Amino acid sequence: MRLDICFVPGDFQAQAYQAYTAVVLDILRATSSITTAFANDCHALVPVTSVTEAWEYKQQQPQVLLAGERQGQCITGFDLGNSPFEYTRPKVAGQTIVMTTTNGTKALTAAASCRNVYIGSFLNAAYLCQQLADEQEDIVIVCAGTEGRFSLEDALCAGLIADRLSRFYALSDTALAAQAMYRGAQHDLNACIGASSHARYLESIGFAADIEYCLRHDCLAIVPYFAQGIIRV
Ligand code: MLT
Repeated sequence: MRLDICFVPGDFQAQAYQAYTAVVLDILRATSSITTAFANDCHALVPVTSVTEAWEYKQQQPQVLLAGERQGQCITGFDLGNSPFEYTRPKVAGQTIVMTTTNGTKALTAAASCRNVYIGSFLNAAYLCQQLADEQEDIVIVCAGTEGRFSLEDALCAGLIADRLSRFYALSDTALAAQAMYRGAQHDLNACIGASSHARYLESIGFAADIEYCLRHDCLAIVPYFAQGIIRV
């Protein structure tokens, strides 16, 4: 079985990966927040690509919570921003959330044509890798990136997953590259990722604690699954 990585959404050709299982990564912060929401018993989450779409969904279903960011900040009138600290059990348990973010929800909707689609992060990496190893399907890791460009944090998490699954999978060249990057940085990931462009931006607008949280490993025993436009567990 093959494990491939798309470092930027532009590299993801839906046709070529239809029979694959996709893992979508947006470490800072969309897939980390989504994983946290389900660890706190969120019922369902609907990723959409625009603010307008989110409001239209709310008009149809007034009970949903609206979540998301632009420039890293909560969208005006929304119930939640994109900081994982906002997705607490009292706030999200049993709720349906409609979410739009700059990169993460775009990558999710792009990967929707794959056979299976899982939400990945450092937080749930161990449980995700166990699930993938059990399923024995070809895998494509889709990194959300930052406005179409390479993002270090997504590539390093993809490298961790490739490294942990390398005993079971034939790694493509991008997967070998990510594994090598991860092996080179694993002893001080916080410093390495802390220097990334999006981490520095989030720190500049007051979200330094989010970065530390999103880099915690294997602490959430949950693997959200995306099908028919909705994420559930
Ligand atoms: C995104 O989807 O672009 C990110 O998660 C943005 C952010 O939360 O800073």
